[in-house]
Amino acid sequence: MARNWSPEGWRELPILQQPNWPDAAPLAKTEARLSDSPPLVFAGEARNLRDKLAEACEGRAFLLQGGDCAESFAEFHADNIRDTFRVLMQMAVVLTFGAKCPVVKVGRLAGQFAKPRSADTETQGGVTLPAYRGDMINGMEFESSARAPDPERLMHAYNQSAATLNLLRAFAQGGYADLHQVQRWNLGFVAASPLGERYKDLADRLTESLDFMAACGLTSETTPQIRETEFYTSHEALILGYEQALTRIDSTSGDWYACSAHMLWIGDRTRQLDGAHVEFMRGVGNPIAIKAGPSLEADDLMRLIDLLNPENQPGRLTVIARMGADKVEAALPPLIRAARGEGRKVLWACDPMHGNTIKSSNGYKTRVFDNILSEVSGFFAAHRAEGSHPGGVHFEMTGQDVTECLGGAQAITEEGLSDRYHTHCDPRLNASQALELAFLIAERLQAERGGEARFMQAS
Ligand code: PEP
Ligand code: CO
Repeated sequence: MARNWSPEGWRELPILQQPNWPDAAPLAKTEARLSDSPPLVFAGEARNLRDKLAEACEGRAFLLQGGDCAESFAEFHADNIRDTFRVLMQMAVVLTFGAKCPVVKVGRLAGQFAKPRSADTETQGGVTLPAYRGDMINGMEFESSARAPDPERLMHAYNQSAATLNLLRAFAQGGYADLHQVQRWNLGFVAASPLGERYKDLADRLTESLDFMAACGLTSETTPQIRETEFYTSHEALILGYEQALTRIDSTSGDWYACSAHMLWIGDRTRQLDGAHVEFMRGVGNPIAIKAGPSLEADDLMRLIDLLNPENQPGRLTVIARMGADKVEAALPPLIRAARGEGRKVLWACDPMHGNTIKSSNGYKTRVFDNILSEVSGFFAAHRAEGSHPGGVHFEMTGQDVTECLGGAQAITEEGLSDRYHTHCDPRLNASQALELAFLIAERLQAERGGEARFMQAS
């Protein structure tokens, strides 16, 4: 248990990236309602995830974390949740079967509703309004009524998270994630593409392995690992009033846990050593992460580790590097070296999205698929050079057939971006781009684990 910590202690400290709530009373009322509402996850589940991440930290597993940049109220639909879930399952199969490595599956889902922004306000045609901060805070439409922060939205986000999590638990444990369904996860619009073919080939071979195992007596009925999967949730812990309201004492350990998700992270813009976000997160028992952009110096990383993982527990702290394709090979090694030099247990993950955001010539916020691949490659190269384990990846992706990132096997062009550009915040990989990336990572991971990239030759 963290020393001198209380769930409201962060309120005394400087805090960034919070909305300017118009009125304190309704906010306090909503926070009180949230405090009386059931937790979304249990401490025991968060501890299980920490144990799984400890395996990844020690090089025996790999973290796959992904989902929307920002979940939305308008796009809340079972089909969307299912499609994101199934792309994550496809990616996990490619990694598990391809690289022969256990994969820890964590969604950016069921709580990823609040966004840090580069400016507090936005001006259009001479009118200035508060910036959109995510559906948990205000509406995206450029109208003063929508942009006013509304505490009722916190409750809405909580309820949508509960419903989403309920469906995810059903998908994970109710038969949908049974490995015998591996062919069915291939989404219609991906199936006919080169990536879909490549996936189908892998799924055929997996099905053959399952037939062999069944002949040996290992079936869905006898083996829960074939029948169901473990799927965890995560989001950026940005709105601390919401997080505090859902933080509870675990009756088993007597420790505090944030019960809004299994895993929480601190964003690149809110990781100040003396700030409210670090203070809040140091006291919850969940596995946590910090985003590490190119401005993070090794000394500051070490102080953050001192505060956030003083007991040096493997699996407690993930550092999600998001350096940018052109910076990763210079900026990451000094961080790895500093942590290793002091024997700190860090799980290193790569977010190849947030350091590679650009504006297209026709005005879209986008990312070039090749830069995303290149950052992942640079991340693996940096770890190889330092003799440490590249432990995971963190993506913004969706199961929908969107056109938000440039390139990939479908060769999305600048003109094509306008076809299906639906994101509420940052550009996401579509299902086919996500799958393409999974094949590349499986190749790198297999090489790192000393195997040959045999399965890749099928394509
Ligand atoms: C995000 O993950 O959506 C995000 C805002 O990332 P970062 O804090 O790394 O910029
Ligand atoms: Co984002």
